[in-house]
Amino acid sequence: MPLLALGAASLLSGLAGALARLGAGTPSPLGAAAGHGVLMTLGFLGTLIALERAVALRQAWGYLAPLLSGLGGLAIVAGVPAPWPPLLMAAAGAWLSAGYLVMWQRQPTVHITVQALGALAWWGGAMCWLAGTDLPGLAPWLAAFVVLTIAGERVELARLALVGRRYREVVLVWSALILGGPALTVVWPAVGARVLGVGLLVLSGWLVRYDIARRTVHARGLTRYMASCLLTGYGWLGVAALIWIWRGALTDGPAYDATLHAVFLGFAMSMVLGHAPVILPAVLRVRLPYHPRDYGVLALLHGSLALRIVGGDLFDVELLRVVGGVLGVVTLLAFVAYAASSAYGARRGGHRPAVAAAPTTFELQGGRR
Ligand code: HEM
Repeated sequence: MPLLALGAASLLSGLAGALARLGAGTPSPLGAAAGHGVLMTLGFLGTLIALERAVALRQAWGYLAPLLSGLGGLAIVAGVPAPWPPLLMAAAGAWLSAGYLVMWQRQPTVHITVQALGALAWWGGAMCWLAGTDLPGLAPWLAAFVVLTIAGERVELARLALVGRRYREVVLVWSALILGGPALTVVWPAVGARVLGVGLLVLSGWLVRYDIARRTVHARGLTRYMASCLLTGYGWLGVAALIWIWRGALTDGPAYDATLHAVFLGFAMSMVLGHAPVILPAVLRVRLPYHPRDYGVLALLHGSLALRIVGGDLFDVELLRVVGGVLGVVTLLAFVAYAASSAYGARRGGHRPAVAAAPTTFELQGGRR
């Protein structure tokens, strides 16, 4: 709970910073506007992911990674000067990578490898930040971290359907492109960004082709809802990939805004909505019951993003960019409020299923334990 609260603090201040960056005229904590990107990706998503990994690792030392990234988020918000925020984030990335190394020794699988490469991207980006790289320069690393972490989990779930196929080589190729792109940007930004774009494009095609969501979208209830979150997210991943291939290195302007938010809002947050009913029970031991109105939040997420990217960034209508951005913030706040009230209601109702009894993503998607 305290670690989750640190992640939530990064999310809320990151959103306040987002509104300030949009020019909405709302107040924002000291470092939140400038640090919005790192707060959202490492402070919020990074803490959440590292926390979930620590639960899976079942070792007390694993919790140090989310603690470090949560504190890194607080340091950004409080405006603590360099080198502390990047140092804390780099230490968190290194610790998470160590956690994956232990997992890999227990279970040397391709999906752990992909997720470990994601943790290396986190660490690599934070090291570049420590060395003085600016936020637009960090963005490819942050994208690689988030995308590889999520993609690794999808590979794990897809592998049963892939038995007998030579899928490992293809997975390692797109993983290498997605991690190699940001690494190349250090010396050759335009080429590195395009390599990342090609990796993301291959991955989005691979996910659409092989992810079990393509089958489970024909199921019902929560299973179908999760598949809808995944498939719509893959669409946005393809959009980001195409812009990166077309434009190369991006440092500001409409294409920068569109690419980053296609990845981080359209893809990553859609994955968060889809995985929350599985991850929250595992981490917090409370149910997050599915309700058909969940589709409302999903539609608001994608609708507001389309308004921002198509109306605001593509047609350059500032009002649509701001309205789409503000609606995006409203969506995320609505999701957090809904998750918190469901969790609270479930606890009051005495629903506290043990971790082992919580449904896994695999089971929710049609598999048997
Ligand atoms: C929910 C609504 C959101 C709004 C209104 C918003 C707004 C913004 C704005 C205005 C920028 C600056 C763009 C520019 O300079 O052209 C930005 C940059 C960025 N955003 Fe967001 N954002 C949102 C959500 C997110 C989320 C969910 C993530 C990640 C999980 C994210 C990650 C980033 C990153 C990495 C950058 C680039 C780094 C930087 O320039 O600070 N954003 N965002």
